[in-house]
Amino acid sequence: MPKLKIDKKKPIVISLGGSMIVPECGPDTEFLNRMDKLVRSFVEKGQLVAIICGGGKTARHYIDAAAQIHKIDPEDLDWIGIHATRLNAHLVRTLFRDIAHPVVIKDPTKTPKRWKGKVLVASGWKPGWSTDYVASRMAHKLGVKNVVNVSNISHVFEEDPRKNPEAKPLNELSWKVYRLMVGDNWHPGKSAPFDPIASKFCQKNKMEVAVASADLENLKKVMSGENWVGTLLK
Ligand code: UTP
Repeated sequence: MPKLKIDKKKPIVISLGGSMIVPECGPDTEFLNRMDKLVRSFVEKGQLVAIICGGGKTARHYIDAAAQIHKIDPEDLDWIGIHATRLNAHLVRTLFRDIAHPVVIKDPTKTPKRWKGKVLVASGWKPGWSTDYVASRMAHKLGVKNVVNVSNISHVFEEDPRKNPEAKPLNELSWKVYRLMVGDNWHPGKSAPFDPIASKFCQKNKMEVAVASADLENLKKVMSGENWVGTLLK
């Protein structure tokens, strides 16, 4: 089982997949409640946590709605997605209101070196990006060498498990091999365990990514630097 190197003096950077926040037709309060408790338990020990929120089904539904009615420019579809990430980020920041930096970070290049509070919440930034990429850029800016990617994908598999249910889950994978698997392109709504553009950035900057499901006991292990069930991209 893999292990992530956690430097407790630095923030833990979490790319929180939007489908965890809004899996179907509204926010998942049970998940958010458990996530709130988990993050607070780390903050109480003095840990800083940065959470970059994805757009989830809100993004998908709104993008699909616009695209069904007119042929929409990809950039405009991305803007719809970005606003969904902002809505989710505002929801998450509101939950951590008492311990969070007072504004949602919308531009990762302006990540503050010193935060007010212990939790920093960010959203998507600009067309052509994903929140995985925002999280990677933000981690780099904060001098953090890894990103915790929480989504409904527990592992990277040898093959697409939707095509081959027998496909084996992988504990560890090099960026070189992972990038051959997912290619280099990104488009609105693309589903990959970790965004290919973010992957290129992480490979270049020698960063590691923990792919983990939303099982919060497991996520606690990732954040504690213990062995967890999932895939380490390195
Ligand atoms: P994400 O695809 O990054 O969020 O943003 P997500 O919901 O976590 O995605 P999953 O669950 O991992 O699949 C949603 C959409 O918002 C736009 C893109 O269109 C993206 O598909 N977006 C997001 C941007 O254009 N720029 C950003 O910086 C972030």
